[in-house]
Amino acid sequence: MTTSQAAVSTLEDIAPAVKGSGHGHLLAFADTLTTAEKAAFARELAAIDWQTIPSVIKRYRKAGAAEAFGEFEPPVVCCVNGTKGDHGIDGKEARAAGLEMIRAGKVAALTVAGGQGTRLGFDGPKGTLPIGPASGRTLFEVFADQIKAAGDWAGRQIPWLIMTSPQNHGQTLAFFEERDWLGLDREQLRFFQQGVMPSFCPETGRLLLAGKGHLATNPDGHGGVVRAMSMSGELDRLEREGVEHLSYFQVDNPLVPPLDPVFLGSHAGAGGAPSSGQFSSKMVAKAAASEKVGVFARCDGKTRVVEYSDMPEALSNATDENGKLRFEAGSVAIHAASVAFLRSIEEAGEAALPFHRAFKKVPYMDVMKGTLIEPSEPNAVKLERFVFDAIPVAEQSLVLRVAREREFAPTKNPTGVDSVESARLMQSQRAESWLRERGHGVPGGCTLELSGEAAWADAAGLDYTPTASPKPGQAVVL
Ligand code: UD1
Repeated sequence: MTTSQAAVSTLEDIAPAVKGSGHGHLLAFADTLTTAEKAAFARELAAIDWQTIPSVIKRYRKAGAAEAFGEFEPPVVCCVNGTKGDHGIDGKEARAAGLEMIRAGKVAALTVAGGQGTRLGFDGPKGTLPIGPASGRTLFEVFADQIKAAGDWAGRQIPWLIMTSPQNHGQTLAFFEERDWLGLDREQLRFFQQGVMPSFCPETGRLLLAGKGHLATNPDGHGGVVRAMSMSGELDRLEREGVEHLSYFQVDNPLVPPLDPVFLGSHAGAGGAPSSGQFSSKMVAKAAASEKVGVFARCDGKTRVVEYSDMPEALSNATDENGKLRFEAGSVAIHAASVAFLRSIEEAGEAALPFHRAFKKVPYMDVMKGTLIEPSEPNAVKLERFVFDAIPVAEQSLVLRVAREREFAPTKNPTGVDSVESARLMQSQRAESWLRERGHGVPGGCTLELSGEAAWADAAGLDYTPTASPKPGQAVVL
C-alpha cells in the first residue's frame, strides 16, 4: 500500500473496489467535494490495497495474545577480536572484505526518514535538523559527506536510498535540491515514499474518515521500507545495478557510520562471522534496564528484537550471576541486509513482516452527522510494520557489538536524554577521542566534529590527517 500505487484514477474508478470491500461509507460526502478534492481523495483511496484490507482488519481487530517472553534467552553476540566473552570476529579480514564489497559497487546506503521532527519540537523532516556541534551540518549532510568520502575512495557513486513519507517527501526533496544535492550526484540519490495504513474502529471494523474527502491513515512503519522499495522500482533497480547489500540506518543517529566495512564484511560472513549474509544488526550494551531501545533475544533457536514497550519489566531487569543485565543487547537500529533477502521478504508479505497493532485516539468524521469528533479515549487501531521483524526470518542473523560512544547518538528529544544536546556533545567527544587516539593533544573548551572524510577514514581504517588543529575554545571540524 504505497503512494506510488496511486495510479491516476478517479473517484468513480475506485468506488467499486471501496464498496466491494465493505467500506462504501467512506464515500458518504463524495458528492459534496470539489473537483480538486475528489481527485485528491481518489489518490488517497487508490493507495490502499482494497483486496486485502478486509482480512487485515479481521486479523487485527482484537489485541493478540501476549508472546511467550519467558522462553527468551540472551542472543549470541559477536565482537571484533572477541572480547567480553562474545564470539570473536577477525576485524582485519572483515574490514578487507567489506572494503572490497564497497569498491566493487555491491553496497548501497539506505536511510529510513519517514518520521517528522515532532517529538524534537522541530518543524520539518528530521533529516534537516542541524546537528553538527561545530559545523551546524544537518543530519542528512553528516551522512552525505561520509557517503561522498566513501565514494571518492571507491571511485564510484554509491547509491543512497532515502525513504520519506507522504508528510515529508516534498520538503525532503526541496531541501536536497536547494542545497545542490548535498554535493552528491543526483543519480546516486534515490528518494521513495513509504506507504500508509488506514486506521479503523475495532468495534465496527470500519475504516475512518479524517475529513469529508480524507481517509484517516498513518505511515506504515519503517518495516514498510521493503514494500516501498519494491513498489517504487528501487529493488529492481538495485538488482539491475548489481548491488547486493544495503547498509540500513535511521535518520536520527548522527554517529552512525553510513558505510561500515567491518560490519558489511562480517555480515557477508568474513572474518569467521556466523552470518548467512541475509540480515545483520549492531548492538550496544544497554545503559540501564529502562533504556528505551529494542532488545535482542533468542526464542525457538532464532534471534529477534523485542521492542522496549513489549519487554516485560521482570525480563528487562533480570541480571546474571555477575550482576550484568541478562538482556543487555540494545538495538541501535543499524542493519545490513541483502537485496535478495529483502526480495524474499517482500514476496512473503505479512508472513515475514506482520503488522504491530496500536490502539490510539484518532479524530474522525461522523458519517451520519458530518461533524469531526475528537475522541477523549482511544477509538482506533493503527497498524505498522517493523523492519527488525525480518531478523528471525534469516537463516543465521549476526548481532555485532559496537561501542556506544562511537556509533549511537539517538536524537529523539530537544533536551536531556537522547536529545539534540546529548547528540552534539557525543559527536564532539567522539572527535576528541579520535584526535587523542592519533596522538594529538586536545586544548580545553573546544567543540570538535569529524568531517565526512575523517569519519570515513576511521570506519575504513585509512590514514587521515586532520585539516585543522584546534586552539583553546575553538569550534573545529577535523
Ligand atoms: C527505534 C526502534 C528501537 C531502537 C531505537 C534506536 C522501533 C519501533 N524501535 O525506536 O528498537 O532501539 O529506535 O534509536 O523502530 N520511521 C519511518 N517511518 C515510519 C516510522 C519510523 O521512516 O513509519 C523512521 C523514523 O524516521 C526514524 C526511525 O524510523 O528514523 C525510528 O522511528 P521511531 O519511531 O523514532 O522509533 P523509536 O521509538 O525511537
